[in-house]
Amino acid sequence: MADTNQSIHGEWSSRFAFILAATGSAVGLGNIWKFPYITGENGGGAFVIVYLICVAAIGIPIMIAETMMGRRGRQSPINTLKSLTEEAGGHTHWHYLGWLGVIAGFLILSYYSVIAGWSMAYVIKAFTGSFSGESATQISSMFSDLQASPLQQTFWHTIFMVATMAVVARGVKGGLEKAVRFLMPGLFILLMLLVAYAMTTGAYLQGLEFLFKPDFSELTAASVLTAMGHAFFTLSLGMGAIMVYGSYLPKNISIAKTAIMIAGADTLVALLAGIAIFPIVFSNGLEAGSGPGLIFETLPIAFGSMTGGGLFGILFFVLLVFAALSSAISLIEPAVAWCVEHYEVERKQACIGMGFVTWLLGMGTVFSFNEWSDVTIFGANFFEALDYLTANLMLPLGGLFIALFAGRIMLAKDSKDELDLGNDTLFDVWRFLVSYVAPAAVFIVFLNVLGVFGIFS
Ligand code: TRP
Repeated sequence: MADTNQSIHGEWSSRFAFILAATGSAVGLGNIWKFPYITGENGGGAFVIVYLICVAAIGIPIMIAETMMGRRGRQSPINTLKSLTEEAGGHTHWHYLGWLGVIAGFLILSYYSVIAGWSMAYVIKAFTGSFSGESATQISSMFSDLQASPLQQTFWHTIFMVATMAVVARGVKGGLEKAVRFLMPGLFILLMLLVAYAMTTGAYLQGLEFLFKPDFSELTAASVLTAMGHAFFTLSLGMGAIMVYGSYLPKNISIAKTAIMIAGADTLVALLAGIAIFPIVFSNGLEAGSGPGLIFETLPIAFGSMTGGGLFGILFFVLLVFAALSSAISLIEPAVAWCVEHYEVERKQACIGMGFVTWLLGMGTVFSFNEWSDVTIFGANFFEALDYLTANLMLPLGGLFIALFAGRIMLAKDSKDELDLGNDTLFDVWRFLVSYVAPAAVFIVFLNVLGVFGIFS
């Protein structure tokens, strides 16, 4: 299989299509929902710096590795790993790495869909003018009401899962390319608008300071791990999503340049979201560390009081839902591609099966905010435990092994040929980063959380 030049699942129509799809995968709830709230919980500036370093030194090299491996293997991550291992003469156990990714994607999607469901509920709230003239307290209780209702959350979670699986069933290439083309610029414009609003709040500088002025005494081993895990999460790395997208990538495209552009766009969106949100937090006396509800408790305040906010609010949450959708499909695509290859079933059947199981698991997250809120594992509720397990453990671990595979198992001549950087020094730098720097960084952060070094404990 590895020597055929096309994937059985089809190919992107152009380099631009790949960039759109991969950016669509990267930019999502991770940037707009998760980045601000974990930044708030982890004390701001110092956390942001660690995150940025992780994106540059670990994320980009691994994104290059995943894309390159996918394009060379041309199949689902599990089978790509199999054929690349054969090519390089490595141990067959490597394909378990593909499994780790498939499971991580499925676990992440189960809660991702619930949060995307909140965003859908907010489209309706924006539509019916619920934010107009409301105080911060009223906006907050609107969110608590949603969280307290299993029924409402289940309703939206169900709709989001059905929508995701419907897109995946058609193949991730067709509609997606078109959707992302207007989505990204739209989201960008609305974020700029929110940043402009943030400037009028009187706490703009305080917000910027929180986000960019590091106070390293705020940094703990746990927050360093969260920052690193988030670098993987936000770039869709460590589970094969970018690998599977890479497998639909035509030859003769510069992988490295593309990866840098995608990571740049992704980081920009996250920072803009932060710049928009924290001034609203501080000017309304809200809590930066209030948790996963942060954007839902802050942005409606802006929409409720700015001119044209009614319309902008609708647009914003609609775009957020689409951004979530273009990310969600990449979480399940590796699993679906594998089902199709392995069982020779139709994409549609694979989607119905996978979708149902994911939906069911998602119910655990729905209940973790209400009925089961006091059921905890190591002090975390179901949602928190799932998030920790996937973003902080499975993705960095997957990334560590992907990096080692690309750097140490694949033969240098093969990766060099596939990357075609046209510059030996650049290639050597990349290979050094994936062979040593990224794996060592992940390893050290893991050990540090276990208290082995006691740095930032
Ligand atoms: N990157 C997406 C976001 O920030 C989420 C996502 C999509 C993801 N595909 C992934 C995270 C694969 C980890 C792995 O919202």
